[in-house]
Parts: sequence; structure tokens; C-alpha cells
Amino acid sequence: MATKNKLFLGLFVHSKALNELEYLHDTAVGVDKEGKITFVERDCAEKKARETVLPQLGWKDAEVEVVKAKEGQFFFPGFIDTHIHAPQYPNAGIFGNSTLLNWLDTYTFPLEVSLSDLAKARRVYTRVIHKTLSHGTTCAAYFATIDVPATNLLADLCHARGQRALIGRVCMDEPSTSPANYRDESAEASVAATRESIAHIRALDPTHTLIRPIITPRFAPTSTFPLLVQLGALAAETTLPIQTHLSENRAEIALVKTLFPPTVTGAADDSYAGVYDAAGLLTGRTVLAHAVHLTTGEAALVARRGAKVSHCPGSNTALGSGAARVRRLLDRGIVCGLGTDVSGGFSPSVLEAARAAVMVSRHVVFMGEEVAGEDREREKLSVEEVLFLATRGGAEVVGLEERVGKFAVGMEWDAQLVGLGVVGEDGEVVGDEDGGDVDVFGWETWPDRVAKWVYNGDDRNTKMVWVKGRLVHARK
Ligand code: GUN
Ligand code: FE
Repeated sequence: MATKNKLFLGLFVHSKALNELEYLHDTAVGVDKEGKITFVERDCAEKKARETVLPQLGWKDAEVEVVKAKEGQFFFPGFIDTHIHAPQYPNAGIFGNSTLLNWLDTYTFPLEVSLSDLAKARRVYTRVIHKTLSHGTTCAAYFATIDVPATNLLADLCHARGQRALIGRVCMDEPSTSPANYRDESAEASVAATRESIAHIRALDPTHTLIRPIITPRFAPTSTFPLLVQLGALAAETTLPIQTHLSENRAEIALVKTLFPPTVTGAADDSYAGVYDAAGLLTGRTVLAHAVHLTTGEAALVARRGAKVSHCPGSNTALGSGAARVRRLLDRGIVCGLGTDVSGGFSPSVLEAARAAVMVSRHVVFMGEEVAGEDREREKLSVEEVLFLATRGGAEVVGLEERVGKFAVGMEWDAQLVGLGVVGEDGEVVGDEDGGDVDVFGWETWPDRVAKWVYNGDDRNTKMVWVKGRLVHARK
């Protein structure tokens, strides 16, 4: 909880629409002790803010903490990582030439099993929370492991450290695909363990100010159909959000077809999305990671149910899963956000995911049959669009669009102060600010500076990070 009212001054940049950033120059933003934005005043220098705005609010000048963006700095909404596996962080960058299914068996399951050691879990979770915050991730939808105490520990650590998070205890009970030492004994046992973790997280944060449980069937192949059905019922009963993986890799899709024929699911066909739908898992509160190889029919079903997609371009590239056609999803009205998918993805940075989304969209231009008259160039995602996905899109994916993602009165202050290197007359960066690889000469427009940040930025540019008004990271 923030302890003082705060006044932020300078340039604020946020998404106004999918393809439009808004630049609020010389603006003052007031944030109250609860971390809520109470005013946004344009053309409001410090003097005016102190002399006219603060008295109107009844805020005493001496009790207000003032944070001013310097030259080359701007405030930007915190990033939302809509898909990340906290226990897999030690494996970031370790995947060799594997693809999804053998990657899970070789690298992922053994590491996840080992985190039932709570000392090890604490070490890993402490680090991944620190690391993601330092990259500007103010909110993350985490997959934990099947272990309840370790999952609850992740929630405790996020809560204490002040990162907004959805925390999912992973469910998997299918004996032919889940390792003997890493699976639930039955669908019922899986649901009972999930309820236990939900109860812990709800007790920790009853009004879900920061932390919320999320129902997490790992994916169809490691689930029995009864488990999927029972988790669908649990989601309906609790109105909690759901997260899982969908249509990431071709071998995975083939496996789903053998494990879930219509005779098992009662669905009209053997589509992957149809399996989740038959179990009641495709809802407006469902986050589907990947959705790389969706058929037209599946995309229509996902759109009809209002389920959301977490686009994970870094992971899809690393594991050779394929390239999601984000434009087609957006054109259908499917809400999309970005996910790092650590450690399918090797980088914990949402900025890196945004960059990867731009790059992958440029490969998509050359994919598939060329249809006469089709404008292939439309597949390309712009800097503005990927930043929308990283903030407002992500907020909608995790059901927080009323609370975070942009700067407006009534929204919560989840934000980052971004600093770029300002190059002086002597060719050296002005002052002691490290701009990392982003050097700004002064003649660039602000849209060009933001583009330079997207393509060359990293955590050296993330100077300060706040969640709900609380300072949770300051770069040394
Ligand atoms: N599908 C099932 N489990 C996983 C996982 O841990 N990571 C990714 N990327 N895909 C999955
Ligand atoms: Fe994943």
C-alpha cells in the first residue's frame, strides 16, 4: 500500500487505441494513498500543480511525494505478462533444439517436480518476481506447479513484494503423458488441491487487491476429460479466471485428437478448442496461451466464447512451434495480450516479447498460400500495436481492464518510468543516466524515440516501477 499521496510530473505515454499512442506532455498525474489515479492534468507544470491542483484536492504540499520525469524520460503503463511459468525461470535459455513435447519431458517436468523443495521454490520465485519487476512487469499470470505449498508460497511472495499476479496451481492427471512423480492421483484429488490453493490465496487477499487465484489445467494432453470437466465446473462455481495452453505445436494437436475423440468429449468434432469448450473451459475469463495453429472454426469458437489469447512469439520461435497469426485473431475481435512464456520463451521481458511480436508478424507475411487480392502487409504489427498488447490488451486478457493499462482517473497506478540515453554535444550521454542501447540525439520525434526503446530497450531503461502506487523497483 502506498503511504503518501503522489504527484507525477512530465511526459506520459499510453495506448489510446490499438494503433495509437497518446503523448501527454507537461502533465501532472495525482495518485492517492490507495494507489488510485485521482487527477490527470495536461499542460500543468509543477508550480501550477502545487498551487492550484493540490489545494483543490485538499492535499498538503509537504505531504505529497513528487516524482518528476527528467529529459529523455517518460511514464508508461506497467507491462502485463499474460503467460509465464514461475518455476521454469532457472531454465530460461535452456532448450537446445527441443520441441514442445520432448522439451516438457527433458527440461520442464524435472525442474517443476524439484520445486516441491520449498527452499528451492523460495529462491527461484524470489528471483523471478524481482527479475520481472525490474523489466517493468507490474502484473503477471503465473503458472506455478502442482505442489500446493510451493504454489501458495509464490502467492505469498508476490503479495509481499507487491507484484500484481494471478497464481495458478497446475493440474495434470493423465497417466500416459504426466510423469509418475508429477501428476495428480485423480481428477478429484486435483480439484481438491486446487481448492486448497484457492482458499489460501483468497485468505491472503480477500478483495483481490493484488493477487488472485486462477484455475490452471496445464493443457489438454496432460488432463483426463473428467478433470477438464470438473475444472470447468469449479470455474463456473467460483467465477475465477482460467488459464491453459491451446494449439501450440503440431504434435501436441495430433495428440489431442487421439486422446479426445468426440466419443470422449461429446463434441461435434475433434478440434482442440472444442475439447476445452466441451468441458466448459472456454469462457470470457479464459486465457489461452499460443493459439498458433487454430483452424478458422476454432478461431470462430474462441471469439464466440469471448476467450482471450496470450501471444507468446518468443516461445513459439524458440521451440519452433510456429507463428501465430495475430492479425486474424484481432480481426475476429479476439482480445490478445503478450506472454513471455518463460521458459518456453527465454526472456522474462515483455518488451522483448513485444519486439518478437513485431518480428514474427513480418514472417507471417510470407506464410501460407497467397490469396489473390489479400493484403499480406496487414499481417505486420506496428510498434503502437505491440505496446497496446503489452498493456491494455494484456489487462483485458486477465480481466483487469477497469483497473490497469492506461493513465486515467479511477485507474490504479501500475507504471514504469522509462529513461533513454540523451546524447550531449560531446557524444557522451548526459548526466549519469544509463540509456543502455537507446541513444537519443534530440532531433527524434517522440514516436521515433518510443520505437527506439521498443527495438533496443531493456531493463537498463526501466528506472522505476510502481504497482498500485507502491514503488516496487528502482534501478540502482
Ligand atoms: N504446454 C504444456 N505445458 C507447457 C509449458 O510448460 N510451456 C509451454 N510453452 N507449453 C506447454
Ligand atoms: Fe506456457
